[in-house]
Amino acid sequence: AQFADQQVTLGEGGETHQVAGNGTPVLTTQQGVPVADDQNSLKVGSRGPTALEDFHFREKIFHFDHERIPERVVHARGYGAHGYFELYESLSDITSADIFQRPGEKTPAFVRFSTVAGNKGSADLARDVRGFAVKLYTKEGNWDIVGNNIPVFFIQDAIKFPDLIHAAKQEPDRGFPQAQTAHDNFWDFASLMPESMHMIMWIMSDRTIPRSFRFMEGFGVHTFRLVNAEGKSTFVKFHWKPKLGMQSVVWNEALKINGADPDFHRRDLWDAIKMGDYPEWELGLQLFDEDFAEKFDFDVLDATKLIPEEVVPVRRVGRLVLDRCVDNFFAETEQVAFCTQNIVPGIDFTNDPLLQGRNFSYLDTQLKRLGGPNFTHIPINAPKCPFLNFQQDGHMAMTNPKGRANYEPNSWGAQGGPRESPKGYHSYPAEESGPKLRIRPESFADHYSQARQFYISQTPVEQDHIARALIFELSKVETPAIRMRIVSHLLNIDEELAQQVGDGLGLKQLPKPAEAAKPTRKDLKESPALSILKN
Ligand code: HEM
Repeated sequence: AQFADQQVTLGEGGETHQVAGNGTPVLTTQQGVPVADDQNSLKVGSRGPTALEDFHFREKIFHFDHERIPERVVHARGYGAHGYFELYESLSDITSADIFQRPGEKTPAFVRFSTVAGNKGSADLARDVRGFAVKLYTKEGNWDIVGNNIPVFFIQDAIKFPDLIHAAKQEPDRGFPQAQTAHDNFWDFASLMPESMHMIMWIMSDRTIPRSFRFMEGFGVHTFRLVNAEGKSTFVKFHWKPKLGMQSVVWNEALKINGADPDFHRRDLWDAIKMGDYPEWELGLQLFDEDFAEKFDFDVLDATKLIPEEVVPVRRVGRLVLDRCVDNFFAETEQVAFCTQNIVPGIDFTNDPLLQGRNFSYLDTQLKRLGGPNFTHIPINAPKCPFLNFQQDGHMAMTNPKGRANYEPNSWGAQGGPRESPKGYHSYPAEESGPKLRIRPESFADHYSQARQFYISQTPVEQDHIARALIFELSKVETPAIRMRIVSHLLNIDEELAQQVGDGLGLKQLPKPAEAAKPTRKDLKESPALSILKN
């Protein structure tokens, strides 16, 4: 009915023409030229060839031809929404970060959830890690917490990331599978990388088939630093705790949902927000100092380890609410560029070798994905606080320096543009020294204790799901030696689990346990964290 008063005429060839008016604007070219006919190209004679001078036709087709940009090299499939972060209590004793100073203050936020391995068009319910990337538009710049829904990672050093992702994505000759872990390359790599065993236990758990994004936890994974106004540093792990609690589907449900509605998670988030049922998470901090970190059985710089919440409780300091869907999926969700390097005064990195590598990778890939150095001018990526510098030009520059000055120091006084501020970003002056070596620290050597800790902390039902997932995934692996190697690692995690998986795979005999490096720190078997869990 709303289109009833639209004036419609038929052309000579019977084509429909709708004419502007009655509230609809005039269609124009990109140059603003009003268009009289969008149905027919310009022809020489009514049945003749199309004329090269048809600027409207050429502009329209040329633009369409260039619609696609490279999909993200990982986390290609994602879904985003706007919202805000609201602080519960001042954290000024721990950090000078502006976002953590004034209780009750709201900071705008944009969140993108994603799967990791699948292509842009893959299904939402694949067994996969979920990305949980949060951009906080603070008054002192954009702060990104680029996290996942699992607190640990597969690898310890970023130099292995291309290998991990190549092994997880489709095999290069056959181009499949698109979005699942059930194939030889993935398990071959995992079986040769014992450091991945802790994460393998998590991805075989129900966490990797969440019911919806709204029922997932998020983790910053790495140890970061918070630094207060006096320059004192505190180590921190970031957590997002869903107000709705955690829920997953079971594998059979995941398969059915993928078949019936591969957009299930997108639709769930869109529908919830449109209905005013805004999803919420609380920001949790695990805070500890350097001396305390030394007492752990593992290294806090090792991203394959977590800090048990029983040992360092999670302090909830604020809430994240998603209350607005995007207006345009491409402009916002596709073009948003998260980067671990985006931090603000009062927050700093640690030497986690995975984090250090990530700090290079994101900006590098975004230069290609978003077409050059000016993607920070796209509204979804631009800070919401004033930003001024002397960077200029490049493709599609929108915020060039104004006036005469495009360098500093300069003699132009108030007309000379922006200047430094003592309150600006200062890196934490951590002491660093030592020989330059291509090496893995001994303190990273224990690959099994936390995998075991995770497994035994699960309920019997959850343990059963892990065993079934392992049997299902490994039964898709065609190479017997790879199956055996995985079982040899499971023997170092839990003998019953290894036996169950071995039986499920029809192994006549179990292999020997994989050779394990001797942990230099105390084995977690005797650690206080484990005894708390056991009791
Ligand atoms: C993308 C998380 C490790 C390179 C992403 C995204 C997330 C994420 C959530 C999607 C961002 C978005 O929604 O746009 C993580 C976590 C890691 C990890 C939690 C480990 C703790 C790494 C490592 C590298 C890396 C080690 C490379 C050395 C990338 C790249 C992208 C990406 C290149 C695509 C970015 C883009 O095109 O905008 N990661 N990642 N990640 N990650 Fe990671």
